Formats: sequence, structure tokens, C-alpha cells
Amino acid sequence: MIEQLRFILFRRRALAHKRVLIDLSAYCDRETTFEGYNRVTSGAHLYQSRLGLASYVGARARLSNTLVGRFSCIGPEVETVVGAHPTTDFASIHPAFFSTRAQAGFTFVSRDLYPEYGERRYREDFYFEIGSDVWIGHGSRLMQGIRVGHGAVVAAGSVVTKDVSPYMVVAGVPARPLRQRFPEATIQRLLAAAWWDMDFNKIALLAPFFSRADLLLEKLEELTIAQL
Ligand SMILES: CC(C)(COP(=O)(O)OP(=O)(O)OC[C@H]1O[C@@H](n2cnc3c(N)ncnc32)[C@H](O)[C@@H]1OP(=O)(O)O)[C@@H](O)C(=O)NCCC(=O)NCCS
Repeated sequence: MIEQLRFILFRRRALAHKRVLIDLSAYCDRETTFEGYNRVTSGAHLYQSRLGLASYVGARARLSNTLVGRFSCIGPEVETVVGAHPTTDFASIHPAFFSTRAQAGFTFVSRDLYPEYGERRYREDFYFEIGSDVWIGHGSRLMQGIRVGHGAVVAAGSVVTKDVSPYMVVAGVPARPLRQRFPEATIQRLLAAAWWDMDFNKIALLAPFFSRADLLLEKLEELTIAQL
């Protein structure tokens, strides 16, 4: 409660200078950082996460330990699923037998015997990595350790149990590939161009070319040649 009040009174206001809009009922902990031009919508909670330039989070979403690239859209009620219990070898799934964290108020062990938070880590110890220009649909869930590649789309209500390759559209429980957003050659050109890494003002100038991927790519390639 005090942490929430402190957040509303101080941090929320300071972030507004970076064009970071955080709704009054949203919450971001002190370890969560923003690159700028971000939005966190009503009731969303962010813990130990990072939002790249222009990325936003929909209402009531819950992200933990998540690295999000630039220009990505995290839909309402999206959740990252953190924490695992052993389902083989150990006789019980109860953390009293493998974790020192005393989840139920007690533990039988003096050291951790199972990697509860997985072993996959991304830049600076994040458990999840969402690339740039990624759209995660309403109510989807990402299982611990997942990486979603640049340009990918996760359909509403999916449960993502495997990494999603760049520009792939996935759907369902568990999420399976539906189609690629573009032909392979276009995907390779978009990944090489990595338009999202450009300066915000340059992207704004190029905005009229975004209605067609081939148009944008031609323009970007033209600009690269002109700079040679
Ligand atoms: C995935 C999505 C973008 C559509 O992609 P698409 O490639 O145009 O897919 P289509 O509508 O042509 O459907 C292709 C197949 O996927 C299925 N499909 C589409 N969305 C699905 C979903 N959310 N879950 C499971 N299957 C889905 C369709 O039923 C269809 O199946 P079929 O081939 O057996 O008939 C869209 O369905 C979606 O989920 N959008 C997210 C909307 C959202 O969350 N909005 C709020 C946040 S901003």
C-alpha cells in the first residue's frame, strides 16, 4: 500500500517526463524500467521488467522479469507464468521438500534443491524475452523462460510453451505456428533492417511507408545506399 502510494506520488510523475504514461490503477515496481513513449494501462502490474521504446501493456496484464523490445504491444490480461515445481524424481511437488523460500510458511530443507525459476536467462537476468514489433493477444500466457522473436504475433488466449520464431503467428493451447507474417525473404530483410532500433524521430518521418512492408524496405534500402 505504502509502496503503491510512493509510486503514485513520485515515480509516476517523474516518468511522465520520458513520455511514460502509467494509469492511476497500474503499478510498476522500482526495478521496472522504461525507455520512453510507453503506456501501462489500468490495473496492469509490472515487476522487474523493462519496456523498450514505444511498447505498451494492456489492462490488467501481469509481467514479471520480462524484457520487452521496442514498439511491442502486450494485450490486456496477458500474464507471464513464473515458478515451477518438480513433476518427476521428487516424491512430492510441495516446495517444503526443495525450496528454502517457505511458501507455506515452513520448509524441510536448508538449501534449494530444484531450479524453481528455471535456468534460462536473458540480458541482465530476465526470465522472459519479448522482441520488438511483437503483438501478444488478449489473455495469453507465457510459460517461464520463453523467448518471443521480433515481429511475432501470439493469438488471443494462447498458452506459449515453446519459443516463437521471428514474424511467426502462433495460436492455441499449447500455441502452435499458424503462418508467417511475410514470405521468408521479406522477413530476412525486415530483421536486417531492424527499423525499431532507429531514432524515434527518424521512425516518425518514415511512418507514411509503414502501410506496406515492401514499401518501407525499399525506402530503408534507398536511404542506406544514399549514405554510402
Ligand atoms: C491470430 C489473429 C491475429 C488472427 O490471425 P490470422 O492469421 O488472420 O488468423 P485467421 O483469423 O485467418 O485464422 C487462422 C486459423 O487460426 C485460428 N485462430 C485464430 N485466432 C485464434 C486464437 N486466438 N486461438 C486459437 N485459434 C485461433 C482460426 O480459427 C483459424 O483456424 P482454421 O484454419 O482451423 O480455420 C487473431 O485471431 C487474434 O488472436 N488477435 C488478437 C486479438 C486481441 O487479442 N486483441 C486485443 C489486444 S490488442
